[in-house]
Amino acid sequence: MTRTPSNEAQAAGSDAAGGASASHGRSGGSKLPPGRAGEARSPREARGPAADSLHSGAVPPGRRARHAAGDCFGILLRNPPHNDRDGGGSHRRPAPGMRPSLPRGRILVAMGSAGWNGTRALVTGASSGIGAAIARELGAAGARVVLTGRNEAALARVAASSGTGASFLAGDLTDPAFRERLTEAVREHLGGLDLLVNNAGITMNARFEELESEVLRWIMEIDFFAQVELTRLVLPELFASKGRIVVMSSVTGLVGTPTRTAYAAAKHALHGLFGALRIELRSRGVSVTIACPGYVATPIRERAVLGDGREQGVDQAAGRTMLSAEDVARRTLRAAWRRRRMVLMGMETRLARILSIAAPGVLDNILEKATR
Ligand SMILES: NC(=O)c1ccc[n+]([C@@H]2O[C@H](COP(=O)([O-])OP(=O)(O)OC[C@H]3O[C@@H](n4cnc5c(N)ncnc54)[C@H](OP(=O)(O)O)[C@@H]3O)[C@@H](O)[C@H]2O)c1
Repeated sequence: MTRTPSNEAQAAGSDAAGGASASHGRSGGSKLPPGRAGEARSPREARGPAADSLHSGAVPPGRRARHAAGDCFGILLRNPPHNDRDGGGSHRRPAPGMRPSLPRGRILVAMGSAGWNGTRALVTGASSGIGAAIARELGAAGARVVLTGRNEAALARVAASSGTGASFLAGDLTDPAFRERLTEAVREHLGGLDLLVNNAGITMNARFEELESEVLRWIMEIDFFAQVELTRLVLPELFASKGRIVVMSSVTGLVGTPTRTAYAAAKHALHGLFGALRIELRSRGVSVTIACPGYVATPIRERAVLGDGREQGVDQAAGRTMLSAEDVARRTLRAAWRRRRMVLMGMETRLARILSIAAPGVLDNILEKATR
């Protein structure tokens, strides 16, 4: 069902005052993969039934500390510069529609509004963090954006702040029937697709021996299979438009990271699949851009699952300097606009990348020490 802005604003109203954590119903802290019902609710159960809806809303990040052992990359660089340049690309000539800005005295060419004007985009994980920032950036640029995530009220708030062309459909991306409905809604509502942003994801914090098999598979479902299968469904639209695919990976997609085994596996798998797909799609005019941020100030670490699937409820990297979701959104969109293969964001990402090639043993030692 497609919702209008006015009836959605009403639906969102009751939840609009709550923070991201409250709106996601995270206070119980119990979150287990499907199949563990009886012990705790699955995410789908915890968040209520998926709703069919399309429309506009806002989202703040949240953070705090737990044990520093999970902060693997913190030791590489405690306080990376907030606005460091991504992958050396920001010095290049700006793409059409880009405007310069001077955050903290450094020249950073940000994606402006003209380039994405009229673009038909689908953004997953748009109810929070980076996905919400990407949706707003696109909306401000005049794109017509369909947002998706499970939290309907949060989606409504983000959509409301993402321009008049924004709409949303709430549901669980790991559900094949929902992915079909979403694809159908995009076809009907947008009449095609120019940009797919595969951003939805969860992370973890547990050593491998504590990680239950079901939880590992659940993380792979969300962080890998859901993105891949959604991409498969919308490919015809992207062929028709010679569109763009964005894949939100991580520094953990480049470097195996202790206490993140399943997350690292999913992110590495994304690199493998979408790296291959990128070459397959070249002749069809469709580009694939893989984005690899380091630490970003979003609720993702609070929502990270422990070995038994429960949410950890705190941010183990709290207090350190992080990229903002808005910064990551702008850099990601700029790279997608230029149809770049990959964009690295955050000093720790570049250091990890360099060390993994030039001195992998040193990197292993650093990461081992950080998680002891
Ligand atoms: N934050 C970082 O430090 C960081 C660093 C590197 C990479 N990344 C990547 O960036 C992406 C976005 O993360 P974030 O930091 O913005 O986290 P976030 O604020 O927790 O947002 C995660 C998003 O994914 C959605 N999502 C999770 N499971 C889902 C499911 N089963 N079905 C549908 N939607 C689902 C959430 O929607 P609902 O809550 O509405 O279900 C939410 O919108 C992830 O892929 C993450 O791996 C983040």
